[in-house]
Parts: sequence; structure tokens; C-alpha cells
Amino acid sequence: PSRVRTICCIGAGYVGGPTCSVIALKCPHIKVIIVDVNPLRIDAWNSEKLPVFEPGLDDVVRRCRGRNLFFSTDIDAGIREADLIFVSVNTPTKTSGVGKGFAADLHYVEACTRRIASVATSSKIIVEKSTVPCRTAASMRTILESNTSETEDGKQITFQILSNPEFLAEGTAIRDLYNPDRVLIGSLDTREGKMAAHALREVYENWVDGSKIYETGLWSSELSKLAANALLAQRISSINSLSAICEATGADVSEVAHACGLDARIGPKFLKASIGFGGSCFQKDILNLVYLSESLGLTEVAAYWHQVILMNEYQKSRFARKVVQTLFNTITMKKVAVLGFAFKKDTGDTREAPAITLCKSFRQEKAFISIYDPKVPREQILLDLTEPGVVDDFEAVRAQVTIAPSPEEACRDAEAVVICTEWDEFAQKAEDEWRGIYATMKKPAFVFDGRGVVDAQTLRKIGFRVHTVGKGPQIIDPIWA
Ligand code: NAI
Repeated sequence: PSRVRTICCIGAGYVGGPTCSVIALKCPHIKVIIVDVNPLRIDAWNSEKLPVFEPGLDDVVRRCRGRNLFFSTDIDAGIREADLIFVSVNTPTKTSGVGKGFAADLHYVEACTRRIASVATSSKIIVEKSTVPCRTAASMRTILESNTSETEDGKQITFQILSNPEFLAEGTAIRDLYNPDRVLIGSLDTREGKMAAHALREVYENWVDGSKIYETGLWSSELSKLAANALLAQRISSINSLSAICEATGADVSEVAHACGLDARIGPKFLKASIGFGGSCFQKDILNLVYLSESLGLTEVAAYWHQVILMNEYQKSRFARKVVQTLFNTITMKKVAVLGFAFKKDTGDTREAPAITLCKSFRQEKAFISIYDPKVPREQILLDLTEPGVVDDFEAVRAQVTIAPSPEEACRDAEAVVICTEWDEFAQKAEDEWRGIYATMKKPAFVFDGRGVVDAQTLRKIGFRVHTVGKGPQIIDPIWA
């Protein structure tokens, strides 16, 4: 039996919630308490409408909640009861002070660490689940060791720190958690450190094959998470940079990606051209890596990774420019339908969604924007499009932006449809449905497919003018014509 009997997870967000719910499901002998400072989030986790949309998550929570899975705002009680604590709080990019715009804001992690030190009445294993810069565990250890007390019977309380970064992807979180490519556990190379790593390994071994659990040093584990995200985002920026060449030459980026992906050294995954990556992690983690490199005096390394982000920004603005140029260089007072607002399909998360950048640039061009997304709540969209600190912006957004209940409503009387998220319902829309949409739009009717999900040939047959990211104009060279 596992030595871990009770787990507390601090931070009931996109990572803490799903991760620890799956642990509760797979380890019925372990009590899992997920705590958060935000009472609204905890209420939602205790309700029928969970605060996070993930396919399969409702079912996991329904099966464990009240059995061995609990959501609570009583952080101190959770800490006291647990043998093992996941720290799964947000680590956003700093918006002011030293490292502004690049470094990770670690004050939530530090607040948790101090809280643990001040309320713990027994020894614990503390697990970094949040994505943190390299050597954060060292700071946590210093804080914990400087603030430890004794148990009631006079024994010294000890803390072991592990790094266990989370590699789940939003939209497939439950699948990824059930069957991870790997579980990474970083620990100090001491007897106690290894024992703590072993205790966490035992938790995962309830459902993950032991060969997939990889134990490393703390710093390697912390850096691996930043590195993995940087490498993933780099593939997207690489294919997106090629998509610009395709559009200029008449090459087709999906053919290029397929041809390249057949090389086993490159592989086919994550080579889909798009309007750019979004999500709370890629940009934040690369900025963090850039900052780390700069801090270490590795200027060239910093510049190399920074380019991945700059390319992503370029891709978004290039696409927005394409829309305006194609619509005869003005979208002022024109209605533009935006299909999809989440940063990817199967999530309601809009953090860093490319749709936000596109809609903001359409707003600057004074277009009317009508947005449809199957999972993002209306208030979230309006909030995302409001510039913080701009007076009367909220009213202005409401005058310029409407949220539609269906793609059909969004497109009615529009001059253009801009697809920002690859939701299945857009990809699977039947020819007849597109025909219906075409009938209600202003002519010429344009479709800008930022995700490469619709069949351009079918849409052209209906009468649409279609631009797909990474597909050049069908130039017929006079020599061959
Ligand atoms: P989130 O913002 O959804 O959740 C964080 C939660 O922590 C919030 O509910 C917040 O109220 C709570 N919190 C903050 N300070 C607290 C404190 N002192 N005590 C108690 N609760 C506190 O963030 P998300 O997306 O879950 O990310 C968490 C970490 O996991 C970040 O470091 C992120 O980089 C990392 N990560 C995120 C992934 C994702 O797909 N979202 C994937 C892998 C890692």
C-alpha cells in the first residue's frame, strides 16, 4: 500500500482540478482535497457546472466527489491533513517590476510555501506541479527550512520537495492524464529525496506503467517542462513561417507538412499551420526561458527562443492584415463573423487565444464583430476584448461586438467569416449548411480559414471566396497554361 494516504492540491485550476480528480479516481484508497483561495471556483467544482470544460472531466468528478475527492476553501485544514501537497497555482508572466513581460510571477507559489511552513504540524512531501523557472525548488526549500517547527511530541518537521511538472494538454486533459507519455519526477539526490520520489511514483503506479515514470534531478525536471513547451511551440512557429512562403508562392502548407513529417526524424505531429498558438502556457513559458537565458548571460540563446514568440505575433497580424486587404482594404462598418474564440477546440479557455488578437485588430478597423463559440461564455468574450484601464471601453465593446447563439446567426449579413478555432462542428459542417450561410451573407462572401478545417473546394463551388492559411493563390504559370 502507498505511504501517501492524503493528498492536498493547492490551486483548483485547469491543472490542479483535472490532475487531482484523476488521482482520486485511480487511487480510491487516497483521500484527495483540492483547495483554492477563490470561493467561486470551489463552489463551481462542488456544483453540476464545473469551472473547467474538459471532455470526460464531469464523469471523473461525479464518480469521486464526496467519496475520496473534496473541494474546499479551507486551505489550512487541507495542508494539515495531507502527507503530500501539490502546489498547482498560477505562475503568470510578471506585468511589472524586475523581469516585467518575461519572468514568471512566483508570488503565488511563495505564498503557498509560506502557508505550508506556518500551518504544517507534521512532515510532508511538497510537489511543484506549477510550471516554474529552474531552481524554484531551492527557494521553496530555503523558505520551508527557515520556518519549520516541531511536532506536538517534539520531533522536527521535515519537508521534501519534488518537481513533477504537468504535461497534459487542455482539450485532451483526461486522456493525457489516463495515459501520459511520461511522468517526470525530479528530486534531490539524497536518501530522503529519493524516498519522497518513490512515494510519488507509487501514487502514479496505480495506473501508469512504471517504465513511463522517469526520475531525474530537480533542476532537470524543472527545465524539462520549459524546454518541452518551447520545443512544441517552436514547431508551430516553424510551420507557420513556412505557411507565409506557401501563401506567397502557391505551395500548400499541408502538403509540405505531410512531406516533411514522413521523415521519421521530424514526425507528423504538431505541424499544422494556423493563425498561431495560444493558451496560457506556451508564450509564458518561453518568455520565462528567454528571461532565464538572459539572466545567465546567454544572449544568443535568449534571442533564439524569443523568435518563436515573435513569429507567432507575426502570424496573427499577417492573418488580420490579409482579412482587411482582401475585403478591399477596409472593414470599417462591415460585419465580420468570427467562428471560435477558445484558443483551441474542446476547451473553454481563452487565455492568449489568437481570436482575441484578431478581434482587437478588427475593432481598431471599426468593424462590427459577431462571435460564436460553443463553449466560451459570453461575458468571458466581452471581458477578453476590453482593454484594461481604457475609459468607456466596456460600452464601446458592447456596441461593436455581439455574441451569437449559432454560427448561422453570427454569419447573417456578414461580409466575411473568420475561423479562429478548429471546433469539430465547423470542420463537419455540411455543404447544405454552408449553402444556407452563404445565402444570408453579403456578396461577395469571404471565408478566412485560420485553422485549415473547411474544404475550400466545396465552399468555392457554393460561391464563397476562400483564403486558407498556408495555401497560396492558384497561380497558373503562363508557361504551363
Ligand atoms: P489557473 O489559473 O487555472 O489555476 C490556478 C489556481 O490557483 C486559481 O484558481 C487560483 O485561485 C489558485 N491560487 C493562486 N494562489 C493561491 C494560493 N496562495 N492558495 C490557494 N490557491 C491559490 O492555472 P492553471 O492553468 O491550472 O495553471 C497552474 C500551473 O500549471 C501554472 O504554473 C501553469 O503554467 C501550469 N500548467 C498549466 C497547464 C494548462 O494547460 N493550463 C498545463 C501544464 C502546466
